[in-house]
Amino acid sequence: MYPDIFVIETLNTHYVLGVDKNGRLNHIHWGKKADPEDYEVRDNWEQNSNHSGLDYTDMEYTAFGGTMYRNCAFKCEYYDKCRDSVFTYLKSEQSDGRLAVTLCDKSYGVELELTYLYSDESDIITRFVTVKNNSNKTLKIEKFMSAELTLPGTRPYAVKNPNGAWGSEFLTKTTILENGTIAFESRKGTAGHTNSPYAVMSAPNADEDHGAVYFAALGYGGSFKVEIQRDFAGVTRAVLGISDFDFSYTLKGGESLTSPKVYMGFTDGFAQMSNMMNEFAYKNILPKSFAQKPLPVLYNSWEATEFNVNARQQLELAKIAKEIGCELFVMDDGWFGRRYNDWGGLGDWSVNSEKFPNGIDELIDGVNELGMDFGLWFEPEMVQEDSDLYKAHPDWTYHYDNREAMKLRHQLVLNLTKKEVCEYVFDCMDKMLEKHNIRYIKWDMNRPFSEIGTENLENGKELWLRHTMAVYEIADRLKEKYPYLQLEACSSGGGRAEYGAMEHFDMVWTSDNTDPVDRLDIQHGYSLIYPIKCMRAWVTDANNTRRPVSLDFRFGVSMQGSLSIGSNLLNYSKEDIEKSGRYIELYKSFRSVIQFGDFYRLKNYAEDGFYSTQYVSKDKKKSVLFINSNANSFFNARFKSIRLKGLSPDEKYRLTDGDTAVIKSGAYFMNKEYALCLDRPLMSKIIILEKV
Ligand code: DGJ
Repeated sequence: MYPDIFVIETLNTHYVLGVDKNGRLNHIHWGKKADPEDYEVRDNWEQNSNHSGLDYTDMEYTAFGGTMYRNCAFKCEYYDKCRDSVFTYLKSEQSDGRLAVTLCDKSYGVELELTYLYSDESDIITRFVTVKNNSNKTLKIEKFMSAELTLPGTRPYAVKNPNGAWGSEFLTKTTILENGTIAFESRKGTAGHTNSPYAVMSAPNADEDHGAVYFAALGYGGSFKVEIQRDFAGVTRAVLGISDFDFSYTLKGGESLTSPKVYMGFTDGFAQMSNMMNEFAYKNILPKSFAQKPLPVLYNSWEATEFNVNARQQLELAKIAKEIGCELFVMDDGWFGRRYNDWGGLGDWSVNSEKFPNGIDELIDGVNELGMDFGLWFEPEMVQEDSDLYKAHPDWTYHYDNREAMKLRHQLVLNLTKKEVCEYVFDCMDKMLEKHNIRYIKWDMNRPFSEIGTENLENGKELWLRHTMAVYEIADRLKEKYPYLQLEACSSGGGRAEYGAMEHFDMVWTSDNTDPVDRLDIQHGYSLIYPIKCMRAWVTDANNTRRPVSLDFRFGVSMQGSLSIGSNLLNYSKEDIEKSGRYIELYKSFRSVIQFGDFYRLKNYAEDGFYSTQYVSKDKKKSVLFINSNANSFFNARFKSIRLKGLSPDEKYRLTDGDTAVIKSGAYFMNKEYALCLDRPLMSKIIILEKV
């Protein structure tokens, strides 16, 4: 009666679904390929009063209802208060790398269309779900996850996710999930600094090179939730999507809602996962205009001048930035409204005429004359009491009349679920872009939501999703109108460094912590699943930790991502300027290897006492290796060594390590330990390999 089996074939894997005799969509297989003819739907067996057949069924997308008690992917309330869903197979389409299976709750005319996009070029499958209310009655959605994943076998999996904070984003922890549910979540309105919207689940002994790794990253940076559960039978499943905490969404008859996307895959080892996602991101996720172009080396003024900006001093910085090789100059916070510190100004996006008495073009033209593009900082979702905007529209923030608003960093969040607020925000940036030659916007967001009242919405619990979608829509509109515009997503550092932002912004700010030693751990965690090129990494004076770190070390760390400069260049000596120039030139010579090549985490502080990362161009002709010793110099550090990865074994490479060069085969460098003498604290080495 039902067409049985759907096989999704990627480069190395099969993902298989099937309809059981009750019409339910079952998950059958995810992993290495088998003969498609052999796949079959398992009959639900063992039913007793405590464990129903459903308990044992690997549902492809579990809706709450009946005797289904596990973490569900979907929950709703129908117009007649029924909260029990029964979704069975209705129809399917499969062609050209797309499978869509539609399930229907026939009593209510509500459909769930599960879509899978895939190709034979990689093992990443893109998934999303659309709820269609085909009835003429109202439907209230209470949980709407983008995907459910069922992992094979009954052994426990190791689960990775950051447990970070502001200034320590992406510090990744591993938990063996033996029992119950582990949840990674944000309830803040953005993804935030603590957990990241992904599920990475591996065989407990998996390492960089080997072992089953199942992963899924969510393309949504609003409040999110990832739930991973190991059931009584030992089966591990995950659901990930919009956080259901304080969420619901009302669909009137005829309306539909599509979930954020999930990018999921199965690999052998973590390096393959990172590389597959890295490449998939610049080929398929990032906004098209810059996805496959190398990102410029930029200068950002924040750490140098904070709020205290003016044309003369910014131009002085720009001149040195140009001299050392920067290609873009970004003026950060402080240029607008009554912005003299963090107490006022947000919302008034017109140039502060006290700081720029001759207008901002004096600076922009000056920067352009130097041969650099110009970029500007905005924090569009915010307003402060000390602003004209707040005086005119105090009701444009999320608020409850009888609750005092928490003014974190003295600011309030604008209610982007109101059309007129979105128009205002778009217009402010549009006006600046129309009038001035601004080719880059850093979009910041410096506080989570609170007092989330929305008198304009019939269902206030929609705000979380509506706000996030409004941010994406404004970003897309700007990019459409100004195709040359590059967008950076920032949220007090890395609060928006995730794939939701990366579908609409070209890059992200990873952390406000620019201390290079801390940064190595942050970058290490980030690299697990996020694309290297999107990771803006500034060389700064890093005065926050007051740790004496050489300029060489700072460059050696920031060159491992999208190199940027954030130091106060006005304090640079002639030697610093010359040295910076040399490093930036070196970076440019292998920038595409870093931003588009394969990436290997060879060593890290926690396990090895030093860091080493390696980048290899896709054609395997060039490779660059970074080595950073830790803060302590100790006897054994003289006897460190590394093995390289990703080279062509039979080709010869010239390895240049400072003044010495050797020519050996790729196999030699990959199979024989290369000796390193790291006998000084915080040493930085950059080793280059080129095919001869
Ligand atoms: C937080 C960001 O992360 C910083 O880079 C900087 O832009 C400040 N905000 C400006 O207020």
